[in-house]
Amino acid sequence: MATFQTLPGFREFYPEDLARRNHIFRLWRQTATTFGFSEYDAPVLEPLELYKAKSGDEIETQLFSFTDKGGRDVALRPEMTPTVCRLVGARASALKRPIKWFSIAEFYRYERMQKGRGRCFFQFNADIFGEPGPEAEIELIALLVQCLCAFGLTEQDFHVRLSDRNLWFFYLEALGLDESRARGVLSAVDKYEKLGDDAFREYSEAFGPLDPELKSKILAFLGTKSLAALEATIATLGGEKLGTRLHDWRRLLGALDAMGLARFVEVDLSVVRGLAYYTGFVFEAFDRKGELRALAGGGRYDDLVQKLGGPALPAVGFAIGDMTFALLLEQRGLMPAFVQAPDVYCVIGGEKERLAAFADIHALRAAGFRVDYPMRELAFGKQFKAAAESGAKLALIYGGDEIAKGVVKIRDLTQRTEVEVPRAQVAASVRDFMTGS
Ligand code: HAM
Repeated sequence: MATFQTLPGFREFYPEDLARRNHIFRLWRQTATTFGFSEYDAPVLEPLELYKAKSGDEIETQLFSFTDKGGRDVALRPEMTPTVCRLVGARASALKRPIKWFSIAEFYRYERMQKGRGRCFFQFNADIFGEPGPEAEIELIALLVQCLCAFGLTEQDFHVRLSDRNLWFFYLEALGLDESRARGVLSAVDKYEKLGDDAFREYSEAFGPLDPELKSKILAFLGTKSLAALEATIATLGGEKLGTRLHDWRRLLGALDAMGLARFVEVDLSVVRGLAYYTGFVFEAFDRKGELRALAGGGRYDDLVQKLGGPALPAVGFAIGDMTFALLLEQRGLMPAFVQAPDVYCVIGGEKERLAAFADIHALRAAGFRVDYPMRELAFGKQFKAAAESGAKLALIYGGDEIAKGVVKIRDLTQRTEVEVPRAQVAASVRDFMTGS
């Protein structure tokens, strides 16, 4: 007989898997709320056009796209950024600034599968609209760090690598490169960590070989790992744009330092981000050991809202993926074991006692207690075994004798003690047991 399997790269969540996923989502949601972000959601299926030439070549080749029954070209969303730009752009004048929004949603990319990479995955997205200065980056990098620390991760587990596409453009301009050459260089920089010198092949094909002296300056800039080194390089070039930009860097790093977060953040100009829309500061979070793919990525994208038909509106944001993040939590022993135990398990005699128990079971559930009982009539021994296996703290015993006397026996399954309480007081007694009073 044919068995149907999930499509490659797609995931199923059995209850224990979903408990882990929910745990992650719960803490992300809670953290975003403490930072004053509001939650939104949007459709999974979008017009294909939304991603064409906006997200970048790589994402475009990875789209799950098709023509719907109405002849529209559509795609499963590979990311949230174009969508959230449309939402904000459509109501920009009515929304109170700065607009601080987050979402937790599923995305689809037809990628080559590897550890921590699938074809469907969840992301926590957080974005700020309407703030042109580094204040937005300060808030978002602090949120990113806290979204990871909320689970018990520390600076020994992860770091945020911070870079700046503006600074790169100003630098390349100061070296005499025009905009299209500068873009070519940045695309090589993006691939340099993975491909080494081969990363410059596309550039050479388009513009001819890069002058060796220029290339060595670019590679030295790419290797910049501190603000002091950055200041030293820029001092040799001068120029107002570079100077003003350094001022933004100092504000950003100074604020993160004041929050006690400098230990998480590293200057690393080798990060430029593959997505096409980034315009300024860009950042990525990685595990310290460098064993996993990126945990999170983001940056400023000041032109995208307008490109998608909205007003000119500065924007910054990031997304954390759930797959690498869950792997890191497991590796560090920070993923709790989830046991879904009831508070109370009912052990019930025969048919008559069952009706009495049903009345109490429903009342206890309505009062907020987690209550379970055997679906079918079973011998007492089997029911006590089931009660112990369920992980419940209490067993309520509805035997013929108890019902005749108008009482219920409450057995504390951990202390192995038993008391009889009048039926009318079951809910109050269970509450006392559960709260330890
Ligand atoms: P991204 O770097 O493409 O950025 O994705 C962010 C994170 O999503 C990655 O660091 C990774 O953890 C996760 N991720 C991406 N692709 C996959 C995959 N195939 N399987 C598993 N996890 C994956 C963006 O998506 C931007 N839209 C982020 C952003 C928000 N920028 C501004 N606002």
